[in-house]
Amino acid sequence: MLTKELARTGVLLPEIGLGTWDYHAGPDLLRKGFEAGAWFVDTAESYGTDHIVGEALRGLRDRVFVATKVSPHNFRAADFRKSVDGSLQRLGIETIDLLQLHQPNPEIPIEETMGAMASVIDAGKVRFAGVSNFSVAQLQQARKALGKHPVVSNQVRYNLIDRTIEKDLLPYCQAEGITVIAYSPLARYLHRVRDADPRGVLDAISRETGKTIAQILLNWCLCKEGVVVIPKGNSEEHVLDMCGASDWRLSAEHLALLDTKVHYRRRRRVDALARRWLRGPLATMARETIRRLPPSLRRRLT
Ligand SMILES: NC(=O)c1ccc[n+]([C@@H]2O[C@H](COP(=O)([O-])OP(=O)(O)OC[C@H]3O[C@@H](n4cnc5c(N)ncnc54)[C@H](OP(=O)(O)O)[C@@H]3O)[C@@H](O)[C@H]2O)c1
Repeated sequence: MLTKELARTGVLLPEIGLGTWDYHAGPDLLRKGFEAGAWFVDTAESYGTDHIVGEALRGLRDRVFVATKVSPHNFRAADFRKSVDGSLQRLGIETIDLLQLHQPNPEIPIEETMGAMASVIDAGKVRFAGVSNFSVAQLQQARKALGKHPVVSNQVRYNLIDRTIEKDLLPYCQAEGITVIAYSPLARYLHRVRDADPRGVLDAISRETGKTIAQILLNWCLCKEGVVVIPKGNSEEHVLDMCGASDWRLSAEHLALLDTKVHYRRRRRVDALARRWLRGPLATMARETIRRLPPSLRRRLT
């Protein structure tokens, strides 16, 4: 497994980590992922998977890089510190390697939250501070608010068919040496990627390289400077396949084909607002309806 430096910290991260949102396969599979080189795991207090991650870490703590997230409703200083203690306890560890703010919370001043972040770093409970779903402007504010400690990463959605961050966030992070942790790097559902690939470019590259579609998708992200990925797999087949996306690189010709022939979108602010308001059963209904549409229409909406 190839590694990338976490920001400018000197710490090397495997370029593929194990996501755990909606993960239900138990600790053994995570351990298989660690053994396959993905000794980097991403969780969050809201995922409900800390106990599984904690079990997987038993006896291996020193070898695995552990990232977790504080939920936005815990961004007040006292709640933040309690949340960190809760995560440490559930994970059964003494230090969190990377603590991320799960998403911005405009209701609570970032100075208060980052003050609490600094205090948990100073107390030795957290090694590095990161954020998630932050825009450039929000990232700049977070960096300023954290002051003496760096913000080392921003965890954001990035995949072949959602290239929103390429507009300004990715170039900003690359210029500032901030690691981008790409979530949903498989676009969550491979059928979405197929819908966006009417010319069958992925299948053609898969035939030429002998790599699977999932490996090509992950490797496309990994070809970008400063980007690591955290796909999630619930089966041994998926996890081992994911881990096989490292140790090689797509050729310039293949990258050019993927960049120009596969349809992709860049979300706008209105998309984020719609997502925020469309939750629960309404969101499930909308997803089901969209799934039944013909691919050409579906592509425009997802
Ligand atoms: N910070 C945030 O706001 C945020 C938001 C979303 C996600 N995340 C993080 O990012 C992680 C990954 O994102 P994600 O779960 O949204 O989506 P993803 O990793 O893009 O896709 C996961 C889906 O891909 C399937 N899959 C995995 N390996 C595969 C393979 N080799 N071939 C075919 N299909 C494969 C999985 O199936 P099975 O499950 O059946 O194996 C699952 O349905 C999450 O687990 C979480 O840690 C963070």
